[in-house]
Amino acid sequence: MTTQAVLLHQPESDVSDSSIQLTITQMIDEMIEQLPDPKHLTSAQRRGIIARYSSVLEGNFIYWMTATLIATKAEAARPILLDNLLEETRDSHPHMMRKFALAAHSFPTDKDALAVHEDLTNMRLFLGRLSGTQSLLTMAFFEGFIQKFMPFLADLAAAEGSTEMEYTDVHGVCDIEHTAGLFRALAIETSIDPIAPGTDIYEGVNLLRTLINRIVYYRSELAAA
Ligand SMILES: [Fe+2]
Repeated sequence: MTTQAVLLHQPESDVSDSSIQLTITQMIDEMIEQLPDPKHLTSAQRRGIIARYSSVLEGNFIYWMTATLIATKAEAARPILLDNLLEETRDSHPHMMRKFALAAHSFPTDKDALAVHEDLTNMRLFLGRLSGTQSLLTMAFFEGFIQKFMPFLADLAAAEGSTEMEYTDVHGVCDIEHTAGLFRALAIETSIDPIAPGTDIYEGVNLLRTLINRIVYYRSELAAA
């Protein structure tokens, strides 16, 4: 078999096995390691991170998981996403998110929403393309990142005087199982709809990393200067 033929006949395990999970885990760990120390940030900077995170998560997480469900062709993968959406809706995670932001005096303003506008739009347009495998990997990355981001987010809120930690407590635990579930769904999806040669499986992951970096590192005082 030629190299070209090998590339065209990649088995499902090539995109669903531990190598992709390992890459995703390494990406997440690098991002977490680089996070600033909340104590070294100003109160305005801490508030800004919570506000931009909340601006993205509150109204978009369920929408993006729903877009991923619509994009997923494998019937057997869909219950995993439905379980996730059930939990989000039944326990009202958007309400949890809003309570968290309000208690930390970090409810997003129009400026916070506009600071993430462009990168958020890129994610919306990407998910609108309804590529099952790419969307599933993106959401697996998102769940994994969120879970490891929770201690940092909780520290920011605590430094702003908040004791309302239901959002960070819940997501520091439940997203471990959600991440594993999404990788299972990805394996099922790729078994019936293999990634076409030349497709960048990490396209959505990279768009999401850009958005998260915007959330964490955007400085309004620099933008205004
Ligand atoms: Fe959630």
